[in-house]
Amino acid sequence: MTTPTDSPADSFATAAARSAGLEAAIAADPARFRVLTGDRPTGPLHLGHLFGTLANRVRLQRAGVEVFVLVADYQVITDRDAAGDLPGAVTGLLLDQLAAGLDPAATTFFCHSAVPALNQLVLPFLSLVTVAELERNPTVKAEAAAAGDRPLSGLLLTYPVHQAADILSCGGNVVPVGRDQLPHLELTRTIVRRFTQRYGPLFSAPDALLGSAPTLLGTDGQKMGKSRGNAIALRDDEDTTAALLRRAVTDAERTITYEPGRRPAVANLVLLGALCRGEDPQAFADAVGSRGAAGLKSAVTEAVNEHLRPLRRRRAELAADPGAVLDVLRAGEERATAIAEATLDRVRTAMGMRYRAVA
Ligand code: TRP
Repeated sequence: MTTPTDSPADSFATAAARSAGLEAAIAADPARFRVLTGDRPTGPLHLGHLFGTLANRVRLQRAGVEVFVLVADYQVITDRDAAGDLPGAVTGLLLDQLAAGLDPAATTFFCHSAVPALNQLVLPFLSLVTVAELERNPTVKAEAAAAGDRPLSGLLLTYPVHQAADILSCGGNVVPVGRDQLPHLELTRTIVRRFTQRYGPLFSAPDALLGSAPTLLGTDGQKMGKSRGNAIALRDDEDTTAALLRRAVTDAERTITYEPGRRPAVANLVLLGALCRGEDPQAFADAVGSRGAAGLKSAVTEAVNEHLRPLRRRRAELAADPGAVLDVLRAGEERATAIAEATLDRVRTAMGMRYRAVA
């Protein structure tokens, strides 16, 4: 076997430039594109997700692009022993996305665990990458470091290859992701290139689509996270949101300004309010004026609760019929399975793994 070493790590700038060109191509001809993206079912989606990836998904769906949304249940156990209440987490994740505007008539939802053919693609793909390449992945390294003393599991080391299978099983060619996922996209492109060299052209290389919204921080001014207690969950009620924002980090200056460099925590709250109101951050800051931190917090609370009110109402309506949510998943899984099985079939043919005469 030849050792695959031809992996020039694309720079962020290259990926960003490709992403910008992609927007124009999608607008011109949405039918040429298929979006695949996903989330780990590890907790409630929050405002960072809404203004980042969720808004992108809904926009692409409305532009007429076919959207596949994966619930990455096998990725939950990359860095933990117990998956927790998966049925509850999966239903909650679906409800968050349906309430945000993803329409099951246009968007296919599915779980890893329901699509065996997807998971089988991981085996040939693993043969196309080296252990050294897997160990170099900066996102995996950061995740391993965040796990502290916990030894790196084989699943954490190889999950970027699993992500390549997620994307390629359904022929996804546009992947809306955050910057941290770019190394995984690059690995997927490498796998496509090597598969083509070895077995012939079957896959086309997907592109990352980077969100344009500025990154929101949590209410403590740190990275917003599902499990950090600093995120406004879409499904929270208005009082919970108000209480979280009352505890938000600010500073002692009376006049509210939008200065991300000098006043990051205040600027983040201003940005949050502005995104919710569809305003310029400067205009939002000016409207609060000299009412200080308390004035800012109440303005942001009002903006957030108002913006989320229709979503929360829809979510409550959908949650009243859990059977319907599971039906959405079942229909999506049937469709994803049919497509992944056809892909696996072509892969096995290309690899010479056909042992019976085809009738
Ligand atoms: N790892 C991604 C995240 O945590 C979720 C994910 C799984 C994904 N499979 C994917 C994203 C395939 C894009 C494409 O956000």
